[in-house]
Amino acid sequence: MGVPETDGNRFDSISPLIMSRNEVNMQEKRIEQILETLTLEEKCAMLHGATFFRSGAVEEKGIPAVETSDGPMGVRNEFPGDSWFPVGLSDDFVSYLPSNSALAATWNPRRACETGQVLGEEARGRGKDVILAPGINIKRDPLCGRNFEYMSEDPYLIRELVVPLIRGIQEADVAACVKHFAANSQETDRLWVDTVVDERTLREIYLPGFEAAVHRGGTYSLMNAYNKLNGEHCSESKALLNRILREEWGYDGTVISDWGSVHTTVSAAESALDMEMSVTANFDDYYFARPLVEAVNRGEASVEDVDRKVRNILRMMLRLKMIGPESGERKQGAYNTPAHRETIKAAARESIVLLKNQGGLLPISPERLQPGAPDALTGHRKKKRIAVIGRNAEHMHSGGGGSAEIKALYEISPLLGLKMELGGNVDIRYAPGYYIPGKKSVNEANWQETSLERQVSRRRDQEETEEEARVRREIEKQRERLRREAVALAETADEVIFVGGLNHDYDVEGWDRDSMALPYAQDILIEELLAAHPDTVVVMVAGSPVEMPWKDRARAIVWNYYAGMESGTALAEILLGRVCPSGKLPETFPALYADTVTCKNGEFGKPERVVYKEGIFVGYRYYEREEIHPAFAFGHGLSYTSFSYDRLEVETAEACLAQGDLRERLVKVSLDVTNTGAVAGGEVVQCYVGDVSCSVERPKKELKAFAKVFLEPGETARIHMELSREAFAFYDVERHGFAAEPGEFILSVGGASDRIWRQETVTLG
Ligand code: BGC
Repeated sequence: MGVPETDGNRFDSISPLIMSRNEVNMQEKRIEQILETLTLEEKCAMLHGATFFRSGAVEEKGIPAVETSDGPMGVRNEFPGDSWFPVGLSDDFVSYLPSNSALAATWNPRRACETGQVLGEEARGRGKDVILAPGINIKRDPLCGRNFEYMSEDPYLIRELVVPLIRGIQEADVAACVKHFAANSQETDRLWVDTVVDERTLREIYLPGFEAAVHRGGTYSLMNAYNKLNGEHCSESKALLNRILREEWGYDGTVISDWGSVHTTVSAAESALDMEMSVTANFDDYYFARPLVEAVNRGEASVEDVDRKVRNILRMMLRLKMIGPESGERKQGAYNTPAHRETIKAAARESIVLLKNQGGLLPISPERLQPGAPDALTGHRKKKRIAVIGRNAEHMHSGGGGSAEIKALYEISPLLGLKMELGGNVDIRYAPGYYIPGKKSVNEANWQETSLERQVSRRRDQEETEEEARVRREIEKQRERLRREAVALAETADEVIFVGGLNHDYDVEGWDRDSMALPYAQDILIEELLAAHPDTVVVMVAGSPVEMPWKDRARAIVWNYYAGMESGTALAEILLGRVCPSGKLPETFPALYADTVTCKNGEFGKPERVVYKEGIFVGYRYYEREEIHPAFAFGHGLSYTSFSYDRLEVETAEACLAQGDLRERLVKVSLDVTNTGAVAGGEVVQCYVGDVSCSVERPKKELKAFAKVFLEPGETARIHMELSREAFAFYDVERHGFAAEPGEFILSVGGASDRIWRQETVTLG
């Protein structure tokens, strides 16, 4: 059985751009020299879209346009620039990368770095300067339509993955554009909703990913969110952009607006936003276009603010070698290379999470697929039959989701993957099992513009019309027919694999789901399949959790986030035991939507104003406090092998907890991990910290370190995890800073948040 290899922190060899003081001075001098040559009109031309994805150039002065493109799962196809109907080129097919949720499920910084490298190289290969990725908003509620684009409910996991991802991207002389800054965790009323978040929650949960992107990732650009934060639109928030991002974090890169998120000229000009992009073709009327020139001329906006913005853009251009002495040395990039596909496949393999495997039902071993006994007369051996049931077995996901859509060079579906792996000696039969009606929503090609209209962002809760009721009855009939066919097929099969879940009608930008239930009556189908063939393997392809009422009856459940062009190959390899699963959930899967804190406090998916009443108790921090057992816990993921942990050692530094650099290492946790099973496999060792007593309420435990290790059968590795002062700190609202209180802390080490092997108390003075 093959295993994906990893050597841990390879990304460390790629550091963000580090310049000497002298180089910085030279760079800033050059920026001033260029700035001096520009007229106000020319400066403002650089500050806004001249097409949908390109800023204005000042060609006479040697300043090129900034070419941007979505996005997170690969480089998006080309648009004419003033219309949302794709050009329809034959040369903009690209590699389709794992979504951020898939990447997060690898729990592997190396995979994040490599995926970033692919994205950066492809973006550069397609002539882009800025790739509008990664999206790192917190998964606050399972129903957020864009959860599939985001990584996790946990800020530490996000931080550890976003840094290598950005470094990987920017290695190709392309800017990452980390989005959406900040607290953009719902799609409903996304342009206008006021997200009310208290200071501690913002600092502990919603900002750390962005802070790491700036400080450790060195991101060259960042995108503001659509929503308001505590009353101010993020596109012009003085608190967020001016004070936190620029003053406190010292960010000197470019801030790009989300498309259509700017609402004023003067206020936005005063904020630390640099470039306005939007979805309509009236480019000269953008707030940062003619209106800004006029506002400056009238004395309402200042030329100093305009200059600051131009400087930030020029600085990004110099860093990207778009201009300046090194511009002849800019990397050329490449797209659709075989190496990219291998990297994508490796990440996909590690992203698949084995949720349940009772009695070792998986993998489907070669022995199980050997043909039957020879016929007495002819010697013919009857092939084994696999019934593959469910539309997601053949559905292509790459072309959907909103701005994350991709014109994939190809996409291997689960069915194709299985057939490619097994060849002609197994009889693989497919039945769709359920029916997917056509999309009822917005004018598809132009969704990007219409999705910003207020009524489109409403939840789907209108009353059913008579016509809709007729269509629904028709659909129910279709579903019943498909279900009967599927169950009949399952009855004749030796192995049954159901592949269902969601698709980008549900995991989609501009909409939140209105329920965590599986759509298309899949639950009924799954129950019937399990009755007909109790050993049915259930595979869920989806970007966000679903309720699984059949979970106790199904013996094997596999979770497959949208994992890119080789997703089907990776899934087949895992189902057939050619690769050992090593993915872990980067988010909690609650048993019921009713168990979520946001359902209980009613503060999700509302228009106008959403108060984050749960504070820092997001995801497992909440379930653990309330002792609610989720369907599958944060960090959960099974393997085909087993691991034992041994020889835990906790070394504590003499340093004082209350003072000093937050990054200073205070505790080192070491342990042996041994592969005690029969096959090679990977394990993610997780270390959580809990404060025994504190002046403020804190979570029982919080992820503060992890390490992924791959081991041959019988092999042992010693794992070292380091905890800095930061790992023990909370945000103290009195002092407006992180602080740690001396005393006892519990370190919990294990293979999942609910599978803790050992707890150790440390006392920090
Ligand atoms: C999305 C961004 C995206 C932009 C450009 C917006 O609707 O929120 O994530 O990068 O469009 O397509």
